[in-house]
Amino acid sequence: MKRIVIFASGSGSNAENLIRFFQNNAHIEVTQVMTNNPHAKVLDRAKNLHVSAFSFNRHAFSKSDDVLHILKTFQPDLIVLAGFLWKFPEHILAAFPNKVINIHPALLPNYGGKGMYGMHVHNAVVANKEKETGISIHYVNEHYDEGAMIFQATCPVLPIDTADDVAGKIHALEMEHFPKVIEELLSK
Ligand code: GAR
Repeated sequence: MKRIVIFASGSGSNAENLIRFFQNNAHIEVTQVMTNNPHAKVLDRAKNLHVSAFSFNRHAFSKSDDVLHILKTFQPDLIVLAGFLWKFPEHILAAFPNKVINIHPALLPNYGGKGMYGMHVHNAVVANKEKETGISIHYVNEHYDEGAMIFQATCPVLPIDTADDVAGKIHALEMEHFPKVIEELLSK
């Protein structure tokens, strides 16, 4: 069985979608959800789907080896950042080379980097009158949103679209593609 550990910071709609997608898969399962936010909705979503979930603080994550030690015990085949907003520490990346991936709600390298997350991205896309946006799934390295690209999908931005409209289109792309891309990665 291949094991996925998900990191998320907020609502967790992607985490829930991934848990549901792999629930009846004989070869891949989501074994753990982890969050930096003890009030994140993703904790409830995971528990409702009977997946173990807990929160950690900044000291445990990046100023000590606590989270690293726990992660090693899970023996993940893939660590998936699904709406995770803290920078992933280098000592954890080094322990899991080519095993940490992220989803970003824009067509990187555009609209990436620190502070570019969630609605900030869609607001900027609409303000700049972009004709197209999309999603990017990429490996994580020591810089925000800069690791090697795995997959991108696009959608049109119409002149009448609001940032909320764009968010809806991005959400649909994420729900459709993220599980399949992960399944493909873990089948190699
Ligand atoms: C998703 O749209 C994801 O692409 C984005 O946060 C949202 C999380 O939604 N990630 C980033 O902006 C990372 N820079 P969710 O909590 O409902 O899955």
